[in-house]
Amino acid sequence: MHSRSFYIKTFGCQMNERDSEIMAQLLSEHGYIETSDSDDSDLIILNTCSIRAKAEQKVMSLLGVIRKQKKKKPNLKICVAGCVAQQEGRQIIERMPHVDLVVGTQNIYQLAELLEHCDKDSVATSLDDRYDIPAFIPAMVDGSSERRPAAFKKFLTIMQGCNNYCTYCVVPYTRGREMSRKVTHILEEANVLVGAGVREITLLGQNVNSYGKTNTVSSSKPDYSFSDLLREVAAIPGLDRLRFTSSNPKDLSDELMRCFADVENLCPQFHLPVQSGSDRILTLMNRKYTRELYLDKVSALRSYSPDIAITTDMIIGFPGETEQDFEDTMSLLEDVRFHGSYSFKYSDRPGTRSAELEGKVDESVKAERLLRFQTRQNEICLEHNRNYVGKVLSVMVEKVEGTALVTRATTNHLVHIADGMRKYTPGETLLAKIVRAGHHSLSGEPG
Ligand code: SAH
Ligand code: SF4
Ligand code: F3S
Repeated sequence: MHSRSFYIKTFGCQMNERDSEIMAQLLSEHGYIETSDSDDSDLIILNTCSIRAKAEQKVMSLLGVIRKQKKKKPNLKICVAGCVAQQEGRQIIERMPHVDLVVGTQNIYQLAELLEHCDKDSVATSLDDRYDIPAFIPAMVDGSSERRPAAFKKFLTIMQGCNNYCTYCVVPYTRGREMSRKVTHILEEANVLVGAGVREITLLGQNVNSYGKTNTVSSSKPDYSFSDLLREVAAIPGLDRLRFTSSNPKDLSDELMRCFADVENLCPQFHLPVQSGSDRILTLMNRKYTRELYLDKVSALRSYSPDIAITTDMIIGFPGETEQDFEDTMSLLEDVRFHGSYSFKYSDRPGTRSAELEGKVDESVKAERLLRFQTRQNEICLEHNRNYVGKVLSVMVEKVEGTALVTRATTNHLVHIADGMRKYTPGETLLAKIVRAGHHSLSGEPG
């Protein structure tokens, strides 16, 4: 007998969110019912992230809480999936014997079978170098599920894994070798989504720019690239908005940047993680590009799409980062004037090369630099946002609270509309005149 109701908690990036949807769909197809409260469920799945130590600590402390739940309810099954599962494997059960099943990143499709037999073999974390991501057609949700309310926008995984081995990063170990999904599978999935009313798709991969480079993508064309794929998905009738993430700047082609000039439903937004403004640190990180190359890509992007909103990721306090290196990061911030950034204190990860490097930066120095960076970034966000005041933007409704609307512009800015004047449904598009700018969002009126 297996449990019948399940609860999934997702940590980490969009790929994990998509994986959680896949697991939820598989379990639903096997007769399980999803609950939104872990207290009501017979099975708890934690889909975990190990990108930084803090992400992993969150999982471990939640597992501690769940241990108490299991004492009260001994039949409760606990499954750890995702990147911590992949990296730690059996050690999770050794440390936390109340965990019943550990499922790695390439094993999620076997979840239902694994649960049937999880008393016998409770660790499934094989990483195949020739992994073929299965075709998987999403069952369209009707919008009533609390965990997946936004059925008008969806993530679509086009590739998985990474071969870049940036020295600080666990992803090549947790997601394995880079694998591109078949074009036919991706297009089929995108068509199903749009056919079911999805208006916005975000294509996902650890480094979408290298789509098709590492294995055959079964296309009729021999050199099928990410921009070819992007153009094919964008051409699906009824798709209003297309986005993608993430990109390593080293593989960003002119061909892809040109899409921003002529693919109409491609949103003018680019998340282009730079990680540092110092060439010395970029080399230590094994990023394989220079500050100059990065700046060249930014100006090329802006020449194709002058209003493009460029965001980034920044690691503060990489081993060996001096005050001068950090100043280079600050000056890059001024040179690019990012529309937004995710910045993090460097965190040692097990098995990575940078964990072995000398010259670790003090936590207090990292904290102080992070604050300086974020303070200046916030000011720049506000300066950018003020430029939108008075402009009319096309926004898509995300949430409806009476006649108040939470919407998103094509640039990915959140736009709050206090009174939408009529009832809207999520996924509808309207014009909004921007009347106020905050650090992290805009306010508008129907315009
Ligand atoms: N593939 C993307 C990044 C994915 S990981 C790229 O190449 O840009 C998401 C972000 O987490 C990274 O951009 C980086 O800023 C951050 N990150 C990864 N490893 C980290 C570490 N050890 N410490 C701090 N931040 C880290
Ligand atoms: Fe990690 Fe991105 Fe570097 Fe790959 S390219 S190793 S995912 S930071
Ligand atoms: Fe985290 Fe794994 Fe994504 S480490 S950021 S969940 S690929």
